[in-house]
This record gives sequence, C-alpha cells and structure tokens, in this order.
Amino acid sequence: MPDTTEAVTTDIRSAVRAVWEAAWDRGEVDRLDELMTADFVRESAASGARWDLAAHKREILQIRAAFPDLSTTVEQLIIDGDDFAIFWSSTGTFAHDLGEVPATGTRVQTRGSNQGRLHDGRIAFERVTWDQSELLADLGVPSLRAALEPEPEASVVDDLSGAQREALKGFNRQFVTGVTVVTTTDAEGRPRGLAANSYASVSLDPPLVLVCVQKTSSTYPALFHSRHLGINILSTEQGDTLATFASREPDKFAHVDWRKGPQGSPLLDGSSASIEAEIKERFQARTHTVFIARVIHAEVTDRTPIVYKAGQFFDGSSLTEL
Ligand SMILES: Cc1cc2nc3c(=O)[nH]c(=O)nc-3n(C[C@H](O)[C@H](O)[C@H](O)COP(=O)(O)O)c2cc1C
Repeated sequence: MPDTTEAVTTDIRSAVRAVWEAAWDRGEVDRLDELMTADFVRESAASGARWDLAAHKREILQIRAAFPDLSTTVEQLIIDGDDFAIFWSSTGTFAHDLGEVPATGTRVQTRGSNQGRLHDGRIAFERVTWDQSELLADLGVPSLRAALEPEPEASVVDDLSGAQREALKGFNRQFVTGVTVVTTTDAEGRPRGLAANSYASVSLDPPLVLVCVQKTSSTYPALFHSRHLGINILSTEQGDTLATFASREPDKFAHVDWRKGPQGSPLLDGSSASIEAEIKERFQARTHTVFIARVIHAEVTDRTPIVYKAGQFFDGSSLTEL
C-alpha cells in the first residue's frame, strides 16, 4: 500500500513550486485557487495586517506591474504534518511606478519566508516574514504599504488647539531663512520649479539636503517622479524670479535665464548659489513630501542672498553682526 501522507506531501511540494512560479513570475494569480483554501488568510509578521486571497492576488499583480521581469525562486520548502515553511527570493527590474513611487530602472533582490498551516492539503494560513530592506532602500520609501496605499486621513487628535496653532504660526514667523527655487524636469523634459524656504542641510558626509513640498503644488508630480532636483538660493537681484516661482504660472522659465546641471536640473542664472542633487527618499508627511537628496554638484557666487522672515523679504547684505 502506498503511504498516502507521503503522496499528499509530494503533491503539495510540486503544487507550491508550480503555482508560486505561475502567480509571481507570470501573473497567473488564479492558479492560487489550486493551492489555497477559499478562506485563506495571509498575515504580515511585521505589521500583523491580514489579507484574504483576493487581496493577495491584487498585491501580486501590483508588484508584477512594477517589476514585469520578476523571477522568484522557492529556495527551501519544509512540510511537517500540517505545518509548512517556504523560503523564497525574488529578483526583478523596477521598471514601472509602484503606487506613488517612481520607477528607478534598477535591478533589485528581496527575500523572505512564509510559515503557516495546511488544511486538507491546501494552504489555509500563512505568516509572511519579508526582509524588505534591500528592496525598499532602492524604492526610497519607508514601507511597501506606504508605496501601495494612500496615507490615512488626519485624525482629530493630531490637531492643535486654536491657541497652540497660533503659537506655532508665531514660532514659524520667528524663524529666519533664505528663499530657494526648487527645480526639476517633467516626463517631457520641460523645466518645472517653485519657491521654497523649507530647505535644510541634513549632513555634509554624506552630502544630503532636504526640502518639503506641498502635494497640491503644480510642480509636485514632476518632482515626485524625477530622480534629480536643483536648489537655487535666490539673490537680491532676483525679486522678479521669486514672484514668478511663488506663483502658479504655467511657464515660469520663460521669464528667467537658466542652464542645465549635470543631471539636467535647471539652475537659475543670477542665483547666490545653486546645487543639483539626486533624490534618495520621499517621506510622506500627509500634505507634504519631504525629499531627501544627495548633492552631486554645487556652485557658489558672491551675490547677496535674499533673507525671509515672517512673510517679508530683506537684503542679506545689511544684516547687523551681533
Ligand atoms: C518665501 C516662500 C517660501 C515658500 N516655501 C515653500 C515650501 O517650502 N514648500 C512649498 O511646497 N511651497 C512653498 N512656497 C509656496 C510655493 O512657492 C507656491 O505655492 C507656488 O505657487 C507653487 O507653485 P506651483 O504650484 O506652480 O508648483 C513658498 C512660497 C514663498 C513665497
């Protein structure tokens, strides 16, 4: 008499490999119906989030749309009675945007393991431990959920009381900054830009800078999808340029002289100083995105910078030293 337990185990082994490859490498997600029970549940070991089979299929298709050449290897498969563990790795080219995250065109590798329980020879439950670090370092997002799902609405608990809100506005008015024009190019190669005072130097080694941009800005989509940006510190000679870039005029660059940085970001003539940087991170902060970028090019002149405080602009050459 054949050992039926062994036969079932052998069936599951070949089914896992065949179905896994069909779903992840060819997008034939309905093949999962052969392997999973109808009430299948998938759970993230990291967040505890749960998906049903339909949501799991959608997730696979979303990931495959971003990584069309995805290739997955089941490295090890352990079955012990109704318990199982699958160890896998995947490689693919990040060719198309994933949620809001722009494609990088680079090849990435990620690996993980699924542990769970079988019911009548099918996977009824699996808990996924996925080391996303290599993949996410390339995507420039803190989590895959952030890439695939929109931010939740602001909650009431996050809001400041009226008096505290006014105090925060006052706090911001006390902070003295320069004014920059942040630039990039859109998908058609057209220059785009906006005035921003949210520039900050993050570190010199590595040479990182940041800027915060409102998602409603007309420049935002181009900036989010770009791999590079320019930051120009406006000089006292650029009052008109400031007015142009603080507006929503459709062709702001028609009014200024500019040239391309090494990666193609517009650098404005007459600025006090300009840098070009590669965008490395795009942190979601509800209404704004914090762009962190690595500087690849810097230019400095002796033109005096504009100084900005509490909604007013000042001449940076007439500051009184303490
Ligand atoms: C001094 C100053 C600083 C600004 N700083 C920022 C900023 O840091 N981030 C931002 O998103 N908008 C900032 N703005 C507002 C944008 O420049 C403004 O909304 C502009 O119209 C956006 O243009 P766009 O919609 O064509 O991109 C600033 C405006 C001024 C005048």
